[in-house]
Formats: sequence, C-alpha cells, structure tokens
Amino acid sequence: MAGSTLGTIFKITTWGESHGKGIGVVVDGCPAGLPLEEKDIQCFLDRRKPGQSKFTTKRNEGDQVEILSGVFEGKTTGTPISMVVWNTDQRSKDYGNIMEVYRPGHADYTFDEKYGFRDYRGGGRSSGRETIGRVAAGAIAACFLKSLGITVTAYTRSVGPYEVKAENFDLNQRDKNRLYMPDTETCLLAEQYLEEMMGRKDSAGGVVECIIDGVPAGIGSPVFDKYDASLAKAVMSIGAVKGFEIGDGFSASRALGSENNDGFHIGADGRTTKVTNHAGGVLGGISDGSSVVFRAAFKPTPSIAQPQKTVTRQGEETQIEIKGRHDPIVVPRAVVVVEAMAALTTVDLLLANLSARMDRIVSFYGKETE
Ligand SMILES: Cc1cc2nc3c(=O)[nH]c(=O)nc-3n(C[C@H](O)[C@H](O)[C@H](O)COP(=O)(O)O)c2cc1C
Repeated sequence: MAGSTLGTIFKITTWGESHGKGIGVVVDGCPAGLPLEEKDIQCFLDRRKPGQSKFTTKRNEGDQVEILSGVFEGKTTGTPISMVVWNTDQRSKDYGNIMEVYRPGHADYTFDEKYGFRDYRGGGRSSGRETIGRVAAGAIAACFLKSLGITVTAYTRSVGPYEVKAENFDLNQRDKNRLYMPDTETCLLAEQYLEEMMGRKDSAGGVVECIIDGVPAGIGSPVFDKYDASLAKAVMSIGAVKGFEIGDGFSASRALGSENNDGFHIGADGRTTKVTNHAGGVLGGISDGSSVVFRAAFKPTPSIAQPQKTVTRQGEETQIEIKGRHDPIVVPRAVVVVEAMAALTTVDLLLANLSARMDRIVSFYGKETE
C-alpha cells in the first residue's frame, strides 16, 4: 500500500492498524540537535486520546508513546525517529458484525473494491487511530517551530449549527472544556445539542479553525507546492474532513475585489505589512508574513447506532446498527490532529525554502568564487 508518506524534506511515514499490535510513525529529515523527550510527544497524544469525556469514545487506550530511535541524550540525532504506541484495548469482537457488511460513510466498501481484502477490525488502516502517528510526528514539528518562535493553535470553531461568537472568543477557555471551544457560552449550547443527538442515536459534525503565527514571508512555492495547497492536502488527508478554506475561503467568492484585497502599508518594524488579512496569510502560494488562518470542515461521525440501509460483501441488501464505541462527534479529538498536520506542512516548507536563494546559499557556505 503506497501513500503512507507525507513531506519532501521533513518526511513522515505512518504505519499500523487500529487493532494490530501497535501503531506509529517514522520521521526522517528532522535536523540533529532538536531537544526532544517522550513527554514532548505525550502531551500532544493526550489531547487526541479517546475516553476523555462523554463525547469521546469509551475505548480505554493509554496511548503511551515510546521513542525507538533517532534521539540520544535528549536531542535528535538527525537519523530517522521511530515512535510506537502499543494497542492495549483491542476488542475485535466488537467489530464482528461489520466483517461481512459495509458500514455507510466508512471506507469498507471502497477498501474491498480496491484491495479485495480488508482488516475490518475498527476500520484497520482507515481508522481514526492512524492519526496517532500524525500527532506524534506533529509534536516534533511543533517543537521545531517553537524554537523559531512559530506557534500553531487550533480549536473547535463550530459544532453542528453552534459557532463560536467573536465577542465571546477567549483562547484560555479552549482547554477548560472537552469540546476545545474558545467560547464557554456556545460550548454549553453545543454540549446540549450533542446530548440530544446521542439520545437520537445520531452524530454531528463541525469545523476546526487553525492559526499559525510567526511564519516569515516567503514560505511555499508558486505552483504545485503552494503553502495553501500543501495545507489543504495535509488537512484533507485526515479522515472525515470534507472541506478546507484559507482566509475568507468560500465567503471570498461573495465579496468584491475592493473588499477582499488586503492593502499594504509599512509596519512599525519597517516591514511591508497587510492592513487586513482576508487572504489568510498566503498570497500566490507563498506566506506573506501575516497569520496563516485556515478551517477544516468535519462530517458527522459515520458510525451511528440507528438502523441504516446497506449491503453485504456477497451483494445482499440488509440493515446495520453499529455497535461498539464511537464518538458522537470527531471534532474535539481532531483539533490536535489538525495542529499536527499544519505543523508538519510548515516545517517541511521552511526546510525547502533554505535552498530558494543563491545569495543565502553563498552566505551560508561562505565561499564566494569570482
Ligand atoms: C481522530 C479521529 C477519530 C475518529 N473516530 C471515529 C469514530 O469513533 N467512529 C467513526 O465512525 N469514525 C471516526 N472517525 C472518522 C472515520 O475514520 C472516517 O470518517 C472514515 O474512515 C471514512 O473516511 P472519510 O470520512 O474521510 O470518507 C474518526 C476520525 C478521526 C480523524
């Protein structure tokens, strides 16, 4: 199975299935000398972990990470960093009823069509558990960015019809509620809505917003490796993501040019700066020095306990009611996954940018030939 690797210089390969022995990632291309300990990674994984609230699956995994290689005496060595999380709460019998039946909204049917064979236990490779590898790698990328003064912050922007209100926005509230919403008032309404959906054996979707602060102007390329295109690919590769917007996104299509263009001026630091940020920090695929702002739309969790129409592998029509442990909403656990994908993309493009200009290469290697 190809397609498990992302990145050009800072390259990650995730591996493992939901109910296999373990799940993990290999990070290749991380420079030597980055201070790194397991706890730097664990704190990211703890935000993705199931079983933290009534809105996340009861699956009781410890999700403890082990670094197997690439770190010595608390620093990266420049060699591949391999990380594993052992799967400890595998109840494969929970999934026996989906062995022969395709779950609506899942990859079961398409996986069988493609490979003719599938690890049906908890979705196998298509499981949300695959994101453990992404988050572990993303934690390293976040440490890298922190050393450059760049921060990546994601939060739940909306749950179903309930959207964070600008006047209530308080990032300090994000980690104080289990929906990762920076607006306590809206969060309470969203919680009631989710309770109602759970009562109806249904699920809900939502939007994650992400802000990358401190990115210098000049990151990303003008054609295929645009910063926004690279972010879109990384973020849309997360299960259940159905939409991506940068800056004003879809609402820019309803604006006039005079409203949507961000004028320039010279900032207090003497640099060219934008007056507004409708562009979301990227112009022509290249960062413009403003905050990079994007959103990802998540569909409702596909596993629901209501009876649904489906078919068996043998082509007979039937009904399915999905048993097992499933989140009524994917969004709160996906917030850190979005952060991870944003951090990985940004690090890869920052490293690629080092070879962009001859004057900088000459000054780095220090030998001018004339
Ligand atoms: C962090 C995370 C957790 C998820 N947990 C569940 C879950 O508990 N139940 C479920 O049905 N889908 C869950 N999903 C979504 C499915 O994996 C996804 O919808 C499915 O593989 C089909 O892929 P698609 O929605 O991208 O088409 C989760 C996704 C993520 C990113």
